[in-house]
Amino acid sequence: MEQLKTINALRECLAVKTKAEIKIALVPTMGNLHKGHLALVKKAQSLADYVVVSIFVNPTQFVVGEDFENYPRTLERDLDYLRHLNVDLVFIPNILEIYPDNVQITTEVIVPELDAIYCGEYRPGHFKGVATVVCKLFNIIQPDIAVFGEKDYQQLLVIRSLVKNLNLPIRIYSVPTFRETDGLAVSSRNKYLSLSERQTAPLLFKAIIDVADSIKRGESDYENLEKNSISSLMTAGFRPEYFSICDSRTLKKPVNQELVIMASAWLGKARLIDNITL
Ligand code: PAJ
Repeated sequence: MEQLKTINALRECLAVKTKAEIKIALVPTMGNLHKGHLALVKKAQSLADYVVVSIFVNPTQFVVGEDFENYPRTLERDLDYLRHLNVDLVFIPNILEIYPDNVQITTEVIVPELDAIYCGEYRPGHFKGVATVVCKLFNIIQPDIAVFGEKDYQQLLVIRSLVKNLNLPIRIYSVPTFRETDGLAVSSRNKYLSLSERQTAPLLFKAIIDVADSIKRGESDYENLEKNSISSLMTAGFRPEYFSICDSRTLKKPVNQELVIMASAWLGKARLIDNITL
């Protein structure tokens, strides 16, 4: 497994693959890899001949006061996982490699229609940071394919939108959310939960499933479903940010039955997000 830290070394390595018309897939990550990330890698391997995983904790997507400094960094363990999966190349750039001037002075990519709603409302600038870094990684690596998780549903739509609007020749694939046996979506931030919070945490997914079941049974008062879910989450000890039933392609008010139920809630020090599409 190649491990490269610079853009120059990476481009040199990938030029050979491109010349040989080898199909390249990229799985962008911030490291601290778990089974959700590994499912993305396996999907990438099923779609392409050569798989690149990037590990970069991107400062510009963390909002002031968030956990950038304390974000779990477990590089050696991550590399072990990727070696076991026979990943071809791991790209581990430092901040200056990705932001050559300064993180404050960089050309930015914004997907306006998705930037300031839902998670974007509570994490202003977050999706601008995501869109910018993913665009940079796409430019640096120039993959044929990139794979993202459905767990971060709004992020997935941001990426699809930027690829379309910037006319990038990259196919985006998504992978369903990998869950613990009790339903909790696996996430690097679950380790911020205390033992008792960890027991409460699956109720977020359960609330989403309950709403999905009600809709399948014919319930159409979405506002009421949202309101009731928020209050039951509060009763269980969550501090919900949003709980919303929306159009799965635009995140706007639903126009047909193509829905996503998305929620974000704090539990202790952990901010949990989850969703399902119908
Ligand atoms: P990170 O949180 O490390 O996630 C990397 C990828 O793994 C994302 O596509 C995310 O949706 C996916 N993922 C995370 N948990 C998952 C789970 N339980 N099941 C399936 N997929 C899961 O998302 C980011 O990093 C960053 O924003 C990034 C795209 C790398 C840009 O910096």
